[in-house]
Amino acid sequence: MAVGVLCNEGQNILLPRPGFGLYNTIATSKNIEVRNYNLLPERNWEVDLEHLESLINSSTAAILINNPSNPCGSNFSKCHLLSILAICERHRVPLISDEIYSDMIFAGQTFHPAASLTNTIPILTLSGLAKQWLIPGWRMGWIIVQDHGTGLLDDIRTGLNALATVLNGPNSLVEAAIPEIFDNVPDEFYRATTRILQENAEVAASRLSAVPALKPIIPQGAMYMMVMIDIDQLQDINDDVDFYQRLKWEEHVEVLPGQCFGMLNYIRIVITPPRDILCCAIDRMASFCKRHSK
Ligand SMILES: Cc1ncc(COP(=O)(O)O)c(C=O)c1O
Repeated sequence: MAVGVLCNEGQNILLPRPGFGLYNTIATSKNIEVRNYNLLPERNWEVDLEHLESLINSSTAAILINNPSNPCGSNFSKCHLLSILAICERHRVPLISDEIYSDMIFAGQTFHPAASLTNTIPILTLSGLAKQWLIPGWRMGWIIVQDHGTGLLDDIRTGLNALATVLNGPNSLVEAAIPEIFDNVPDEFYRATTRILQENAEVAASRLSAVPALKPIIPQGAMYMMVMIDIDQLQDINDDVDFYQRLKWEEHVEVLPGQCFGMLNYIRIVITPPRDILCCAIDRMASFCKRHSK
């Protein structure tokens, strides 16, 4: 709905690479041109700001960021978000900020909602119950329309209401549960979730670091970790898709190939499984890499 309401056919939208594949699917299905801006693995997957800015032209209808990120598990600093917002301001482009992993961040990190850092840029902030509350099956999400009292998004709000009637969205029982969920879920529930995710990320990263062909990029939040494959160290694996297929076939371990997110020779692992299963899966990945190493 956010993409559909902001972008017209023939315009373009800037999406992160690597990024959640659904953005691309939705934009292209509406004949909106996708322009991917790079995220930098060596900088904890921050946006390549120069690259982002170079992609903007007069047909750019929106920039989308996803923070914290699927598939990267990154969490942008305030300073970095301000730099992204400055680009939106310079080019007068609205922001879609997918913050469905908001607050799912690890010790020492601070999460900054993009809209809390500007009084001028119109922002559609996306979130939902699927991640922080761990109930994807309820299919409940929302868009927060934030124009800081400027009225710039008045028409967009009307458009969203119109699109919502087409979607025929979540059922009223689930909607009725929302106030209860927001008010009464104890803080310990959220703390426990992020504690488990962080511990899993640490255990997974330390085991993966011991595998010569794999280089994990330690996440700062969310549920995922990107792992670089040093393909030159493997003798008969062509790329990440080949790695994924053969790992599944030989070790019954399923990862997602980086190409699903537009990133060659990476894999994404999910850090949510119970610790013993996660460790077992990584041990199998290690034996797989050893067996295929040069
Ligand atoms: C970045 C991101 N945004 C949005 C979603 C959508 O979540 P849902 O449709 O389950 O609410 C997901 C789910 O994986 C996601 O990773």
